[in-house]
Amino acid sequence: MSSPDNKKTEDSYLDQSLRPLTWEEYIGQKPIKDNLKILLQAAKQRGHAAEHILFYGPPGLGKTTLANLIALETGRQIRITSGPAIERVGDLASILTNLSPNDILFIDEIHRLSKQVEEVLYPALERGVLDIIIGKGPSARTIQLDLPPFTLVGATTKIAMLSSPLRSRFSGGVFRLEYYNEPELAQIIKRSAEILGSDIHDEATTEIAKRSRFTPRTANYLLKRCRDYALVHSKKLDKQTVRDALSILMVDDIGLMEIDRKYLNVIIDKFKGGPVGLGTISAAIGEDPSTVEDVIEPYLIQEGMIERTPRGRTVTKKGFEHLGFDFIEK
Ligand code: ADE
Repeated sequence: MSSPDNKKTEDSYLDQSLRPLTWEEYIGQKPIKDNLKILLQAAKQRGHAAEHILFYGPPGLGKTTLANLIALETGRQIRITSGPAIERVGDLASILTNLSPNDILFIDEIHRLSKQVEEVLYPALERGVLDIIIGKGPSARTIQLDLPPFTLVGATTKIAMLSSPLRSRFSGGVFRLEYYNEPELAQIIKRSAEILGSDIHDEATTEIAKRSRFTPRTANYLLKRCRDYALVHSKKLDKQTVRDALSILMVDDIGLMEIDRKYLNVIIDKFKGGPVGLGTISAAIGEDPSTVEDVIEPYLIQEGMIERTPRGRTVTKKGFEHLGFDFIEK
């Protein structure tokens, strides 16, 4: 089964078409939008590239979408890459020297840049130069190459893993994306359904919004699966169709998926509700720790199903009861 957090699903071209193209189409995150509009307008009036910007927050909330919007709204080109894709200093040098003036450089998962690459990035961000070392040993020389002015837009799910020198270079602002509320998700689902040419009932929209884990990527993923189900079964896209479609996806009434229930079950069943460490849980459910930490846990915490304590993770009374277990008081 394809997962909502995997960006390369077979229908990712549809994801592209669902991306908002203007500030008006981009729903939610109002404080971020308001700040960006000022920042970009001021840069335009001064005739400069906007200062560097960092977005952080859980996956699927629209960090890449915002970067694309900045490019669209300013009429600049965007070059998209990611921390792990820039393996060597030379890779970064080639990207930077190939930018046109005032381009947007988007680096996703920027916390995964290597130390060496980061070191080359600093002077590029601060002084617009690339320091290149030629030769080795005592005869080595540094030459400086002037770069075109550009705006770096960084994105990360792990702000704590960003080195503080790198973080301090985002002089345009460091913005935290917030989870979306139900009415915002409903608006996003309605808009997406329109683009997909699906006639969706209002109660069906609400039903999907409720189970979308406060996340647009999940909302769009569930919408597409419900639309497939309606097509195959020749059904209208109404509340009952959504319920049936989501029940075969094993998405429950508050949006928990099979893997979330497995997570809760393991802690309750094998560890009497915790506390238990991240590594142990990850091994027990067969997911890597970063997926558990970035994708599974944030929603369970938001929903009050688990708590992260210094001694490990514990399942709350609500978590026990959601799975139909009696709470084990500690
Ligand atoms: N698709 C993903 N995120 C969105 C948003 N914030 N507004 C509109 N459509 C979206």
